[in-house]
Amino acid sequence: MRVPQRILLGPGPSTVDPRVLRAMATPLVGHLDPVFLEIMNEVMQDLRYVFGTENQLTFPMSGTGSAGMETVLVNLLEPGDHALICVNGVFGTRMCDIAERAGARVTRVDAPWGAPIDPADVKAVLERERVDLVAIVHAETSTGVLQPLEEIARMVREHGALFVVDAVTSLGGVAVDVDKRLIDACYSGTQKCLSCPPGLSPVTFGPRAEERLARRKRKVQSWYLDVTMISQYWGAERFYHHTAPISMMYALHEALQIVKEEGLEKREERHRTISRLFCEGLADLGLEPLVPEAYRSPMLITVKVPDGVDEARVRRFILNRFNIEIGGGLGDLKGKVWRVGLMGSSCTENNVILVLEALRQALEAERK
Ligand SMILES: Cc1ncc(COP(=O)(O)O)c(C=O)c1O
Repeated sequence: MRVPQRILLGPGPSTVDPRVLRAMATPLVGHLDPVFLEIMNEVMQDLRYVFGTENQLTFPMSGTGSAGMETVLVNLLEPGDHALICVNGVFGTRMCDIAERAGARVTRVDAPWGAPIDPADVKAVLERERVDLVAIVHAETSTGVLQPLEEIARMVREHGALFVVDAVTSLGGVAVDVDKRLIDACYSGTQKCLSCPPGLSPVTFGPRAEERLARRKRKVQSWYLDVTMISQYWGAERFYHHTAPISMMYALHEALQIVKEEGLEKREERHRTISRLFCEGLADLGLEPLVPEAYRSPMLITVKVPDGVDEARVRRFILNRFNIEIGGGLGDLKGKVWRVGLMGSSCTENNVILVLEALRQALEAERK
């Protein structure tokens, strides 16, 4: 294998700290080894810290962020349940697909791609009919919107539904605050602001979600993602469910140490400061973010492609000349934006200077 050393400034994965890579090379122990069980306990405890929760049921699922999404939805929904899914990008759309496959009746609340969900639209549905679960994406990686959660969370609680949040891109970058924000279930991924390779999906289930699990009439249709079974491996019983991905657990353990050493508040401040620096630099190049500052996610910025510029050619130029990966647009935004990720270890002033220079040269080449 010959793999170049890229600077990862796309929508994920982000740059992985050498400490995490070294942790992955640690010799394997068995997944029921007492040493490994202690590592599992520490991972659970540290995940509670980053999620901002006391939830007992907090652990990483084996699989990427989509496995976390599917875990939360297939465990909390049964055929005939009514799910309200907020859609303002690719990942809200994916949640609808999963909820429908789980047999739920899905009502969509849409917002234009690049805008946040309007709480009034959620309220209208909650007041019109009974809803069992409301799901929303915190940081929409396809659009760069950071969704305010508080007002929607309060309404969902008042109407007795469960509140599910996708924190795949936000966790470890900005506060998710599961307990404070009345979030009943939340999932994430390791490869964004936690700066770990992709492969695990941290999830957390609060007391109301646990109560819903206990009330299920039928078994979860997915054996692999059945949280009640998996919690017997992560809980006191330590029953074998599946062979845990040991090396990934080492990686997550080390990545969480790095997050703790910096502290969540400082980490959020860094993401916000560096992203502001990037946006100021964009203005100097005559470029513009898609999302207004009030709703712009600091860890993923969508940049409008100017008329007459070939979006894909710019990305190729930046990859070939600077070894920097940035992302292209997805779905409605295909060809219209670049997606620049400043996540976790990738979120540095140095990287901002580099990517701005790369963009400057790429745009100059376009004009020739
Ligand atoms: C907001 C959001 N949700 C879910 C996912 C799915 O995660 P994965 O690609 O790790 O399965 C992603 C991945 O980019 C994401 O950004």
